Amino acid sequence: MISRLALFVIFAFVSGSGASKKFTDDFLFGVATSAYQIEGGWKDDGKSESIWDRFIHENPKRIWNQSSADIACDSYHKVEEDIEMIKALGVDYYRFSLSWPRILPNGTTDYVNKKGVEYYRKLIKGLRKNNIEAMVTLFHWDLPQVLQDQGGFLSEKIIKWFSDYARLCFKLFGDDVKTWITFNEPKQTCLMGYGLAVLPPNIPGSGIGDYKCTYYLLKAHAEAWHIYDKEFREKQKGRISIVVDYSWWEPLITNNTAFTEAAESGIQFMSGLYANPVYLGDWPKIVKSRVAELSKKEGEKKSRLPEFTKEEIVRIRGTYDFFGVNYYTSVLALPNLIPLPRGILNDRGCFQIQSPEWEGGKSLWLKVTPWGLKKLLKYLKDTYKNPEIIITENGYSDTGELEDDKRISYIKQHLNVILEARDEYGVNVSAYTVWSLMDNFEWIDGYQSRFGLYHVDFSDPKRKRTIKKSALYYRDVIKTRCPEGKCE
Ligand SMILES: *[C@@H]1O[C@H](CO)[C@@H](O)[C@H](O)[C@H]1NC(C)=O
Ligand SMILES: *[C@@H]1O[C@H](CO)[C@@H](O)[C@H](O)[C@H]1NC(C)=O
Ligand SMILES: *[C@@H]1O[C@H](CO)[C@@H](O)[C@H](O)[C@H]1NC(C)=O
Ligand SMILES: *[C@@H]1O[C@H](CO)[C@@H](O)[C@H](O)[C@H]1NC(C)=O
Repeated sequence: MISRLALFVIFAFVSGSGASKKFTDDFLFGVATSAYQIEGGWKDDGKSESIWDRFIHENPKRIWNQSSADIACDSYHKVEEDIEMIKALGVDYYRFSLSWPRILPNGTTDYVNKKGVEYYRKLIKGLRKNNIEAMVTLFHWDLPQVLQDQGGFLSEKIIKWFSDYARLCFKLFGDDVKTWITFNEPKQTCLMGYGLAVLPPNIPGSGIGDYKCTYYLLKAHAEAWHIYDKEFREKQKGRISIVVDYSWWEPLITNNTAFTEAAESGIQFMSGLYANPVYLGDWPKIVKSRVAELSKKEGEKKSRLPEFTKEEIVRIRGTYDFFGVNYYTSVLALPNLIPLPRGILNDRGCFQIQSPEWEGGKSLWLKVTPWGLKKLLKYLKDTYKNPEIIITENGYSDTGELEDDKRISYIKQHLNVILEARDEYGVNVSAYTVWSLMDNFEWIDGYQSRFGLYHVDFSDPKRKRTIKKSALYYRDVIKTRCPEGKCE
Protein backbone atom coordinates (compact mmCIF):
# COMPACT_ATOMS: atom_id res chain seq x y z
CA MET A 1 0.00 0.00 0.00
CA ILE A 2 2.70 2.38 0.98
CA SER A 3 4.75 1.88 -2.11
CA ARG A 4 1.67 2.33 -4.23
CA LEU A 5 0.89 5.57 -2.50
CA ALA A 6 4.50 6.66 -2.92
CA LEU A 7 4.30 5.93 -6.62
CA PHE A 8 1.14 7.93 -6.87
CA VAL A 9 2.74 10.87 -5.13
CA ILE A 10 5.75 10.74 -7.44
CA PHE A 11 3.49 10.50 -10.48
CA ALA A 12 1.35 13.40 -9.31
CA PHE A 13 4.46 15.44 -8.66
CA VAL A 14 5.92 14.72 -12.09
CA SER A 15 2.73 15.43 -14.01
CA GLY A 16 1.94 18.46 -11.90
CA SER A 17 5.37 19.94 -12.36
CA GLY A 18 4.75 20.77 -16.02
CA ALA A 19 6.97 17.96 -17.24
CA SER A 20 4.05 16.45 -19.14
CA LYS A 21 3.59 19.61 -21.18
CA LYS A 22 6.90 19.02 -22.89
CA PHE A 23 7.73 17.03 -25.97
CA THR A 24 10.20 14.26 -25.28
CA ASP A 25 13.64 14.50 -26.85
CA ASP A 26 12.85 11.82 -29.42
CA PHE A 27 9.82 13.71 -30.76
CA LEU A 28 10.70 15.14 -34.18
CA PHE A 29 9.73 18.46 -35.71
CA GLY A 30 9.68 19.21 -39.41
CA VAL A 31 8.45 21.56 -42.08
CA ALA A 32 6.92 20.73 -45.46
CA THR A 33 6.53 21.81 -49.09
CA SER A 34 5.73 20.11 -52.38
CA ALA A 35 7.47 20.28 -55.74
CA TYR A 36 4.73 21.88 -57.79
CA GLN A 37 3.93 24.49 -55.18
CA ILE A 38 7.46 25.86 -54.84
CA GLU A 39 9.82 24.80 -57.62
CA GLY A 40 8.79 26.73 -60.72
CA GLY A 41 11.17 25.97 -63.59
CA TRP A 42 8.22 24.20 -65.14
CA LYS A 43 10.05 23.39 -68.38
CA ASP A 44 13.66 23.95 -67.35
CA ASP A 45 16.42 21.48 -68.10
CA GLY A 46 14.22 18.91 -69.78
CA LYS A 47 11.33 18.74 -67.32
CA SER A 48 8.13 17.73 -69.08
CA GLU A 49 4.59 18.93 -68.53
CA SER A 50 2.64 17.69 -65.51
CA ILE A 51 -1.15 17.47 -65.36
CA TRP A 52 -1.06 20.67 -63.30
CA ASP A 53 0.97 22.56 -65.93
CA ARG A 54 -1.53 21.47 -68.57
CA PHE A 55 -4.58 22.28 -66.43
CA ILE A 56 -3.42 25.78 -65.55
CA HIS A 57 -2.22 26.67 -69.01
CA GLU A 58 -5.48 25.49 -70.56
CA ASN A 59 -7.80 26.88 -67.85
CA PRO A 60 -6.08 29.96 -66.43
CA LYS A 61 -9.38 31.24 -65.05
CA ARG A 62 -9.74 28.26 -62.75
CA ILE A 63 -6.94 29.70 -60.59
CA TRP A 64 -7.45 32.73 -58.37
CA ASN A 65 -6.23 35.90 -60.15
CA GLN A 66 -5.17 33.61 -63.02
CA SER A 67 -1.90 32.89 -61.27
CA SER A 68 0.35 30.09 -62.41
CA ALA A 69 3.07 28.04 -60.79
CA ASP A 70 5.45 28.45 -63.73
CA ILE A 71 7.86 30.23 -61.38
CA ALA A 72 6.17 29.82 -57.97
CA CYS A 73 8.87 30.33 -55.29
CA ASP A 74 11.57 29.61 -57.89
CA SER A 75 12.99 26.95 -55.61
CA TYR A 76 14.38 25.10 -58.61
CA HIS A 77 17.00 27.85 -58.71
CA LYS A 78 17.32 28.41 -54.97
CA VAL A 79 18.56 25.23 -53.34
CA GLU A 80 21.06 26.94 -51.05
CA GLU A 81 18.63 29.63 -49.99
CA ASP A 82 15.93 27.06 -49.19
CA ILE A 83 18.35 25.02 -47.10
CA GLU A 84 19.43 28.13 -45.15
CA MET A 85 15.79 28.87 -44.34
CA ILE A 86 15.15 25.32 -43.18
CA LYS A 87 18.32 25.33 -41.14
CA ALA A 88 17.38 28.54 -39.36
CA LEU A 89 14.27 26.83 -37.97
CA GLY A 90 16.29 24.07 -36.36
CA VAL A 91 13.92 21.37 -37.64
CA ASP A 92 14.83 17.70 -37.56
CA TYR A 93 13.56 17.03 -41.06
CA TYR A 94 12.33 18.65 -44.26
CA ARG A 95 9.38 17.08 -46.03
CA PHE A 96 9.33 17.81 -49.77
CA SER A 97 8.25 16.01 -52.92
CA LEU A 98 9.96 14.89 -56.09
CA SER A 99 8.56 16.03 -59.41
CA TRP A 100 7.99 12.88 -61.45
CA PRO A 101 8.07 14.74 -64.81
CA ARG A 102 11.33 16.43 -63.80
CA ILE A 103 13.04 13.10 -63.17
CA LEU A 104 11.25 11.06 -65.85
CA PRO A 105 10.08 13.42 -68.61
CA ASN A 106 8.61 10.50 -70.52
CA GLY A 107 6.93 9.19 -67.39
CA THR A 108 8.73 5.87 -67.67
CA THR A 109 12.21 4.83 -66.61
CA ASP A 110 13.61 4.37 -70.12
CA TYR A 111 14.84 7.93 -69.95
CA VAL A 112 16.16 9.60 -66.79
CA ASN A 113 16.68 13.37 -66.85
CA LYS A 114 20.10 13.87 -65.26
CA LYS A 115 19.56 17.57 -64.62
CA GLY A 116 16.39 16.87 -62.67
CA VAL A 117 18.14 14.21 -60.61
CA GLU A 118 20.99 16.63 -59.92
CA TYR A 119 18.61 19.18 -58.45
CA TYR A 120 17.27 16.73 -55.88
CA ARG A 121 20.70 15.28 -55.18
CA LYS A 122 22.02 18.74 -54.40
CA LEU A 123 19.05 19.40 -52.11
CA ILE A 124 19.31 16.07 -50.29
CA LYS A 125 23.09 16.31 -49.88
CA GLY A 126 22.75 19.87 -48.65
CA LEU A 127 20.20 18.82 -46.05
CA ARG A 128 22.38 15.98 -44.94
CA LYS A 129 25.38 18.24 -44.54
CA ASN A 130 23.27 20.30 -42.15
CA ASN A 131 21.92 17.32 -40.22
CA ILE A 132 18.43 17.75 -41.56
CA GLU A 133 16.70 14.50 -42.50
CA ALA A 134 14.92 14.30 -45.83
CA MET A 135 11.31 13.09 -45.73
CA VAL A 136 10.52 12.53 -49.37
CA THR A 137 7.11 12.28 -51.01
CA LEU A 138 7.18 10.48 -54.34
CA PHE A 139 3.85 11.82 -55.55
CA HIS A 140 2.31 15.12 -54.56
CA TRP A 141 -0.23 15.42 -57.42
CA ASP A 142 1.97 16.39 -60.42
CA LEU A 143 1.53 13.37 -62.68
CA PRO A 144 3.46 13.54 -65.98
CA GLN A 145 0.92 14.64 -68.61
CA VAL A 146 2.29 11.97 -70.95
CA LEU A 147 1.03 9.30 -68.52
CA GLN A 148 -2.32 11.02 -68.19
CA ASP A 149 -2.58 10.83 -71.97
CA GLN A 150 -2.36 7.06 -71.59
CA GLY A 151 -5.10 6.91 -68.96
CA GLY A 152 -3.36 8.14 -65.81
CA PHE A 153 -4.85 6.66 -62.66
CA LEU A 154 -7.73 5.11 -64.57
CA SER A 155 -5.27 2.76 -66.23
CA GLU A 156 -3.97 -0.32 -64.51
CA LYS A 157 -0.58 0.59 -65.99
CA ILE A 158 -0.22 3.23 -63.28
CA ILE A 159 0.84 0.43 -60.94
CA LYS A 160 3.90 -0.35 -63.02
CA TRP A 161 4.62 3.26 -63.95
CA PHE A 162 4.60 4.30 -60.33
CA SER A 163 6.47 1.36 -58.89
CA ASP A 164 9.21 1.68 -61.53
CA TYR A 165 9.52 5.37 -60.68
CA ALA A 166 9.61 4.56 -56.97
CA ARG A 167 12.33 1.93 -57.39
CA LEU A 168 14.42 4.39 -59.38
CA CYS A 169 14.08 7.03 -56.64
CA PHE A 170 15.05 4.53 -53.92
CA LYS A 171 18.11 3.67 -56.01
CA LEU A 172 19.04 7.27 -56.74
CA PHE A 173 18.41 8.88 -53.36
CA GLY A 174 17.70 6.12 -50.84
CA ASP A 175 21.11 6.12 -49.20
CA ASP A 176 20.34 9.60 -47.89
CA VAL A 177 16.59 9.29 -47.28
CA LYS A 178 15.23 7.66 -44.16
CA THR A 179 11.53 8.40 -44.62
CA TRP A 180 9.56 7.91 -47.83
CA ILE A 181 5.95 8.72 -48.58
CA THR A 182 4.37 7.14 -51.64
CA PHE A 183 1.25 9.25 -52.16
CA ASN A 184 0.18 12.50 -50.54
CA GLU A 185 -3.59 12.80 -49.98
CA PRO A 186 -4.97 10.25 -52.46
CA LYS A 187 -8.39 11.86 -52.04
CA GLN A 188 -7.21 14.96 -53.88
CA THR A 189 -5.94 12.88 -56.78
CA CYS A 190 -8.84 10.45 -57.06
CA LEU A 191 -11.93 12.18 -55.73
CA MET A 192 -11.04 15.69 -56.88
CA GLY A 193 -9.24 14.64 -60.08
CA TYR A 194 -11.28 11.74 -61.45
CA GLY A 195 -14.53 12.13 -59.51
CA LEU A 196 -15.74 15.65 -58.79
CA ALA A 197 -13.28 17.05 -61.35
CA VAL A 198 -12.28 20.12 -59.39
CA LEU A 199 -8.56 19.46 -59.79
CA PRO A 200 -6.54 18.06 -62.69
CA PRO A 201 -6.84 15.91 -64.67
CA ASN A 202 -10.35 17.28 -64.34
CA ILE A 203 -12.18 14.18 -65.59
CA PRO A 204 -15.70 13.90 -64.15
CA GLY A 205 -16.66 10.44 -62.93
CA SER A 206 -17.99 10.68 -59.43
CA GLY A 207 -18.93 7.30 -58.02
CA ILE A 208 -16.93 5.44 -60.67
CA GLY A 209 -13.66 7.09 -61.74
CA ASP A 210 -12.77 8.15 -58.19
CA TYR A 211 -13.16 4.57 -56.90
CA LYS A 212 -11.27 3.07 -59.82
CA CYS A 213 -8.44 5.56 -59.31
CA THR A 214 -8.31 4.71 -55.62
CA TYR A 215 -8.20 1.00 -56.37
CA TYR A 216 -5.20 1.37 -58.70
CA LEU A 217 -3.50 4.00 -56.54
CA LEU A 218 -3.56 1.78 -53.47
CA LYS A 219 -2.22 -1.14 -55.49
CA ALA A 220 0.57 1.12 -56.78
CA HIS A 221 1.32 2.22 -53.23
CA ALA A 222 1.49 -1.38 -52.05
CA GLU A 223 3.87 -2.40 -54.86
CA ALA A 224 6.19 0.51 -54.04
CA TRP A 225 6.13 -0.46 -50.36
CA HIS A 226 6.96 -4.10 -51.19
CA ILE A 227 9.78 -3.03 -53.51
CA TYR A 228 11.28 -0.95 -50.74
CA ASP A 229 10.75 -3.70 -48.21
CA LYS A 230 12.32 -6.40 -50.33
CA GLU A 231 15.06 -4.62 -52.26
CA PHE A 232 16.12 -1.61 -50.20
CA ARG A 233 15.09 -1.72 -46.56
CA GLU A 234 17.91 -3.88 -45.32
CA LYS A 235 20.59 -1.72 -46.85
CA GLN A 236 19.00 1.72 -46.60
CA LYS A 237 17.27 1.20 -43.26
CA GLY A 238 14.47 3.64 -43.97
CA ARG A 239 10.70 3.52 -43.65
CA ILE A 240 7.85 4.13 -46.06
CA SER A 241 4.12 4.86 -45.83
CA ILE A 242 1.24 6.73 -47.39
CA VAL A 243 -0.25 10.07 -46.23
CA VAL A 244 -4.02 10.38 -45.85
CA ASP A 245 -5.71 13.71 -45.18
CA TYR A 246 -8.36 13.73 -42.48
CA SER A 247 -10.88 16.18 -41.24
CA TRP A 248 -12.47 15.26 -37.96
CA TRP A 249 -16.19 14.52 -38.50
CA GLU A 250 -18.26 15.54 -35.50
CA PRO A 251 -21.99 14.73 -35.51
CA LEU A 252 -23.94 17.98 -35.54
CA ILE A 253 -26.21 16.39 -32.92
CA THR A 254 -24.03 14.14 -30.82
CA ASN A 255 -26.86 12.33 -29.19
CA ASN A 256 -28.59 11.02 -32.28
CA THR A 257 -27.93 7.79 -34.18
CA ALA A 258 -28.63 9.25 -37.62
CA PHE A 259 -26.08 11.98 -36.97
CA THR A 260 -23.42 9.71 -35.50
CA GLU A 261 -23.87 7.42 -38.52
CA ALA A 262 -23.53 10.42 -40.82
CA ALA A 263 -20.23 11.28 -39.15
CA GLU A 264 -19.01 7.70 -39.43
CA SER A 265 -19.96 7.58 -43.10
CA GLY A 266 -18.30 10.93 -43.73
CA ILE A 267 -14.95 10.04 -42.23
CA GLN A 268 -14.94 6.63 -43.92
CA PHE A 269 -15.87 7.86 -47.39
CA MET A 270 -13.54 10.84 -47.23
CA SER A 271 -10.53 9.29 -45.51
CA GLY A 272 -11.05 5.69 -44.39
CA LEU A 273 -11.49 4.72 -48.03
CA TYR A 274 -7.77 5.43 -48.50
CA ALA A 275 -6.51 4.23 -45.11
CA ASN A 276 -8.51 1.10 -44.41
CA PRO A 277 -7.07 -1.15 -47.14
CA VAL A 278 -3.54 -0.26 -46.02
CA TYR A 279 -3.97 -0.43 -42.24
CA LEU A 280 -6.67 -3.07 -41.83
CA GLY A 281 -7.25 -4.63 -45.24
CA ASP A 282 -10.19 -4.01 -47.63
CA TRP A 283 -12.50 -0.99 -47.87
CA PRO A 284 -14.37 0.29 -44.82
CA LYS A 285 -17.53 -1.76 -44.21
CA ILE A 286 -19.89 1.18 -44.47
CA VAL A 287 -18.42 2.23 -47.83
CA LYS A 288 -18.68 -1.28 -49.24
CA SER A 289 -22.25 -1.79 -48.13
CA ARG A 290 -23.58 1.64 -49.11
CA VAL A 291 -22.07 1.60 -52.60
CA ALA A 292 -23.16 -2.01 -53.19
CA GLU A 293 -26.71 -1.23 -52.14
CA LEU A 294 -26.98 1.93 -54.25
CA SER A 295 -25.37 0.23 -57.26
CA LYS A 296 -27.99 -2.50 -57.04
CA LYS A 297 -30.78 0.05 -56.89
CA GLU A 298 -29.34 1.72 -59.97
CA GLY A 299 -29.53 -1.59 -61.83
CA GLU A 300 -25.77 -2.19 -61.93
CA LYS A 301 -24.69 -5.84 -62.13
CA LYS A 302 -22.02 -5.27 -59.54
CA SER A 303 -20.91 -2.59 -57.13
CA ARG A 304 -19.34 0.54 -58.60
CA LEU A 305 -16.68 0.11 -55.95
CA PRO A 306 -14.07 -2.30 -57.36
CA GLU A 307 -13.82 -5.42 -55.28
CA PHE A 308 -10.42 -6.43 -53.92
CA THR A 309 -9.52 -10.09 -54.39
CA LYS A 310 -8.33 -11.98 -51.31
CA GLU A 311 -4.79 -11.82 -52.70
CA GLU A 312 -5.04 -8.05 -53.18
CA ILE A 313 -6.30 -7.53 -49.67
CA VAL A 314 -3.34 -9.42 -48.29
CA ARG A 315 -0.90 -7.66 -50.63
CA ILE A 316 -2.07 -4.19 -49.58
CA ARG A 317 -2.72 -4.83 -45.89
CA GLY A 318 0.21 -3.84 -43.72
CA THR A 319 2.06 -1.79 -46.33
CA TYR A 320 2.95 0.95 -43.86
CA ASP A 321 5.70 1.77 -41.41
CA PHE A 322 3.84 4.61 -39.69
CA PHE A 323 0.50 6.39 -40.03
CA GLY A 324 0.99 9.61 -42.02
CA VAL A 325 -1.85 12.09 -41.49
CA ASN A 326 -2.47 15.61 -42.71
CA TYR A 327 -4.86 17.51 -40.46
CA TYR A 328 -6.15 21.06 -40.82
CA THR A 329 -9.78 21.31 -39.80
CA SER A 330 -13.02 19.67 -38.67
CA VAL A 331 -16.55 19.47 -40.02
CA LEU A 332 -20.01 18.80 -38.60
CA ALA A 333 -21.93 15.88 -40.08
CA LEU A 334 -25.63 15.63 -40.77
CA PRO A 335 -27.56 12.91 -42.58
CA ASN A 336 -28.68 13.52 -46.15
CA LEU A 337 -32.20 12.35 -46.83
CA ILE A 338 -32.56 13.83 -50.33
CA PRO A 339 -31.42 11.63 -53.22
CA LEU A 340 -28.58 13.28 -55.17
CA PRO A 341 -27.21 12.39 -58.61
CA ARG A 342 -25.05 9.29 -58.67
CA GLY A 343 -21.71 10.01 -57.10
CA ILE A 344 -19.77 9.98 -53.89
CA LEU A 345 -21.90 12.68 -52.26
CA ASN A 346 -24.96 10.49 -52.66
CA ASP A 347 -23.03 7.33 -51.81
CA ARG A 348 -21.86 8.69 -48.49
CA GLY A 349 -25.34 9.85 -47.50
CA CYS A 350 -24.26 12.81 -45.42
CA PHE A 351 -23.53 16.50 -45.60
CA GLN A 352 -20.82 18.50 -43.94
CA ILE A 353 -21.03 22.00 -42.57
CA GLN A 354 -18.81 24.16 -40.43
CA SER A 355 -19.96 26.35 -37.61
CA PRO A 356 -19.99 30.06 -38.40
CA GLU A 357 -18.67 30.51 -34.89
CA TRP A 358 -15.40 28.77 -35.66
CA GLU A 359 -12.54 31.12 -36.35
CA GLY A 360 -11.38 30.81 -39.94
CA GLY A 361 -8.15 31.03 -41.90
CA LYS A 362 -7.87 32.66 -45.30
CA SER A 363 -8.75 29.34 -47.00
CA LEU A 364 -12.53 28.97 -46.93
CA TRP A 365 -12.39 25.37 -45.76
CA LEU A 366 -9.94 25.99 -42.92
CA LYS A 367 -11.50 26.58 -39.52
CA VAL A 368 -9.45 26.50 -36.35
CA THR A 369 -10.55 23.32 -34.55
CA PRO A 370 -7.68 21.87 -32.51
CA TRP A 371 -10.18 19.82 -30.47
CA GLY A 372 -10.87 17.88 -33.67
CA LEU A 373 -7.24 16.78 -33.87
CA LYS A 374 -7.44 15.45 -30.35
CA LYS A 375 -10.53 13.39 -31.19
CA LEU A 376 -8.99 12.27 -34.47
CA LEU A 377 -5.80 11.05 -32.79
CA LYS A 378 -7.81 8.95 -30.35
CA TYR A 379 -9.93 7.65 -33.25
CA LEU A 380 -6.84 6.66 -35.27
CA LYS A 381 -5.34 4.92 -32.28
CA ASP A 382 -8.53 2.98 -31.59
CA THR A 383 -9.37 2.24 -35.22
CA TYR A 384 -5.97 1.36 -36.64
CA LYS A 385 -4.30 -0.70 -33.92
CA ASN A 386 -2.38 2.04 -32.16
CA PRO A 387 0.04 2.91 -34.96
CA GLU A 388 2.98 5.26 -34.70
CA ILE A 389 1.49 8.49 -36.06
CA ILE A 390 3.38 11.19 -37.92
CA ILE A 391 1.51 14.42 -38.50
CA THR A 392 2.81 15.09 -41.98
CA GLU A 393 0.99 18.43 -42.40
CA ASN A 394 -0.72 20.97 -40.19
CA GLY A 395 -0.90 24.68 -40.80
CA TYR A 396 -2.84 27.92 -41.06
CA SER A 397 -3.47 30.26 -43.97
CA ASP A 398 -3.67 34.04 -43.83
CA THR A 399 -2.91 36.79 -46.33
CA GLY A 400 0.82 36.83 -45.72
CA GLU A 401 1.32 38.96 -42.61
CA LEU A 402 4.82 38.99 -41.11
CA GLU A 403 3.38 39.42 -37.62
CA ASP A 404 1.36 36.25 -37.97
CA ASP A 405 0.07 35.78 -34.44
CA LYS A 406 -2.90 33.75 -35.63
CA ARG A 407 -0.57 31.18 -37.17
CA ILE A 408 1.38 31.02 -33.92
CA SER A 409 -1.82 30.47 -31.99
CA TYR A 410 -2.95 27.76 -34.44
CA ILE A 411 0.32 25.82 -34.18
CA LYS A 412 0.43 26.23 -30.41
CA GLN A 413 -3.10 24.94 -29.93
CA HIS A 414 -2.46 21.92 -32.14
CA LEU A 415 0.81 21.09 -30.41
CA ASN A 416 -0.95 21.28 -27.06
CA VAL A 417 -3.64 18.80 -28.06
CA ILE A 418 -0.98 16.39 -29.34
CA LEU A 419 0.50 16.41 -25.84
CA GLU A 420 -2.97 15.97 -24.34
CA ALA A 421 -3.75 13.05 -26.66
CA ARG A 422 -0.46 11.48 -25.63
CA ASP A 423 -1.08 11.92 -21.91
CA GLU A 424 -4.80 11.19 -21.80
CA TYR A 425 -5.17 8.49 -24.44
CA GLY A 426 -1.63 7.17 -24.92
CA VAL A 427 -1.62 8.08 -28.61
CA ASN A 428 1.79 7.50 -30.15
CA VAL A 429 2.54 10.64 -32.19
CA SER A 430 6.25 10.72 -32.98
CA ALA A 431 6.58 13.76 -35.25
CA TYR A 432 4.87 16.99 -36.28
CA THR A 433 5.21 18.87 -39.56
CA VAL A 434 4.24 22.46 -40.24
CA TRP A 435 2.77 23.21 -43.63
CA SER A 436 4.57 25.17 -44.96
CA LEU A 437 8.18 26.32 -45.03
CA MET A 438 7.19 29.35 -47.11
CA ASP A 439 4.22 30.94 -48.82
CA ASN A 440 3.65 29.07 -52.04
CA PHE A 441 1.26 28.20 -54.85
CA GLU A 442 -1.87 27.10 -53.02
CA TRP A 443 -3.40 25.21 -55.97
CA ILE A 444 -6.64 26.81 -57.22
CA ASP A 445 -6.33 29.46 -54.49
CA GLY A 446 -3.24 30.73 -56.28
CA TYR A 447 -1.19 33.00 -54.04
CA GLN A 448 -4.04 34.45 -52.00
CA SER A 449 -3.86 31.92 -49.14
CA ARG A 450 -0.48 31.98 -47.45
CA PHE A 451 0.69 29.11 -45.25
CA GLY A 452 4.38 29.97 -44.90
CA LEU A 453 6.66 30.39 -41.93
CA TYR A 454 8.53 32.59 -44.41
CA HIS A 455 6.90 35.24 -46.55
CA VAL A 456 7.58 35.18 -50.29
CA ASP A 457 7.21 38.28 -52.44
CA PHE A 458 5.67 36.93 -55.64
CA SER A 459 5.86 40.30 -57.39
CA ASP A 460 9.64 40.32 -56.97
CA PRO A 461 11.44 38.47 -59.79
CA LYS A 462 13.92 37.32 -57.13
CA ARG A 463 11.06 35.93 -55.01
CA LYS A 464 12.48 37.55 -51.92
CA ARG A 465 11.81 35.54 -48.76
CA THR A 466 11.32 37.15 -45.35
CA ILE A 467 11.12 35.39 -42.02
CA LYS A 468 7.80 35.68 -40.15
CA LYS A 469 7.15 35.82 -36.43
CA SER A 470 5.78 32.24 -36.56
CA ALA A 471 9.14 30.94 -37.79
CA LEU A 472 10.83 32.36 -34.70
CA TYR A 473 8.11 30.88 -32.52
CA TYR A 474 8.50 27.44 -34.12
CA ARG A 475 12.28 27.64 -33.73
CA ASP A 476 11.83 28.25 -30.00
CA VAL A 477 9.37 25.37 -29.65
CA ILE A 478 11.86 23.03 -31.26
CA LYS A 479 14.62 24.27 -29.00
CA THR A 480 12.65 24.18 -25.74
CA ARG A 481 10.26 21.28 -26.64
CA CYS A 482 7.43 23.42 -25.25
CA PRO A 483 4.41 24.69 -27.23
CA GLU A 484 4.58 27.92 -25.27
CA GLY A 485 8.03 28.46 -26.73
CA LYS A 486 9.46 28.33 -23.23
CA CYS A 487 8.89 26.18 -20.18
CA GLU A 488 8.27 27.34 -16.65
C1 LIG B 1 -3.06 39.60 -59.80
O1 LIG B 1 -2.15 39.36 -60.83
C2 LIG B 1 -1.55 40.52 -61.37
C3 LIG B 1 -0.76 40.13 -62.59
O2 LIG B 1 0.10 39.08 -62.34
C4 LIG B 1 -0.70 41.19 -60.31
O3 LIG B 1 -0.08 42.34 -60.81
C5 LIG B 1 -1.60 41.53 -59.15
O4 LIG B 1 -0.82 42.04 -58.10
C6 LIG B 1 -2.38 40.33 -58.66
N1 LIG B 1 -3.36 40.75 -57.71
C7 LIG B 1 -3.28 40.43 -56.43
C8 LIG B 1 -4.38 40.98 -55.57
O5 LIG B 1 -2.41 39.74 -55.98
C1 LIG C 1 10.39 10.32 -75.04
O1 LIG C 1 9.34 9.77 -75.79
C2 LIG C 1 9.26 10.28 -77.08
C3 LIG C 1 8.04 9.74 -77.77
O2 LIG C 1 7.31 8.91 -76.97
C4 LIG C 1 10.50 9.93 -77.87
O3 LIG C 1 10.43 10.46 -79.15
C5 LIG C 1 11.68 10.48 -77.15
O4 LIG C 1 12.86 10.05 -77.78
C6 LIG C 1 11.70 10.06 -75.71
N1 LIG C 1 12.73 10.79 -75.06
C7 LIG C 1 13.81 10.23 -74.66
C8 LIG C 1 14.85 11.18 -74.18
O5 LIG C 1 13.96 9.03 -74.66
C1 LIG D 1 -29.72 13.05 -25.28
O1 LIG D 1 -31.04 12.82 -25.66
C2 LIG D 1 -31.96 12.61 -24.60
C3 LIG D 1 -33.33 12.33 -25.16
O2 LIG D 1 -33.26 11.65 -26.36
C4 LIG D 1 -31.99 13.81 -23.69
O3 LIG D 1 -32.82 13.55 -22.59
C5 LIG D 1 -30.60 14.14 -23.22
O4 LIG D 1 -30.62 15.34 -22.48
C6 LIG D 1 -29.66 14.28 -24.40
N1 LIG D 1 -28.30 14.49 -23.92
C7 LIG D 1 -27.53 15.45 -24.35
C8 LIG D 1 -26.16 15.52 -23.77
O5 LIG D 1 -27.87 16.24 -25.19
C1 LIG E 1 5.68 4.48 -30.75
O1 LIG E 1 5.91 3.71 -31.90
C2 LIG E 1 7.26 3.40 -32.13
C3 LIG E 1 7.36 2.68 -33.44
O2 LIG E 1 6.54 1.55 -33.46
C4 LIG E 1 7.80 2.59 -30.98
O3 LIG E 1 9.17 2.32 -31.19
C5 LIG E 1 7.62 3.35 -29.70
O4 LIG E 1 8.03 2.58 -28.62
C6 LIG E 1 6.18 3.75 -29.52
N1 LIG E 1 6.09 4.64 -28.39
C7 LIG E 1 5.12 4.55 -27.51
C8 LIG E 1 5.14 5.54 -26.41
O5 LIG E 1 4.26 3.70 -27.58
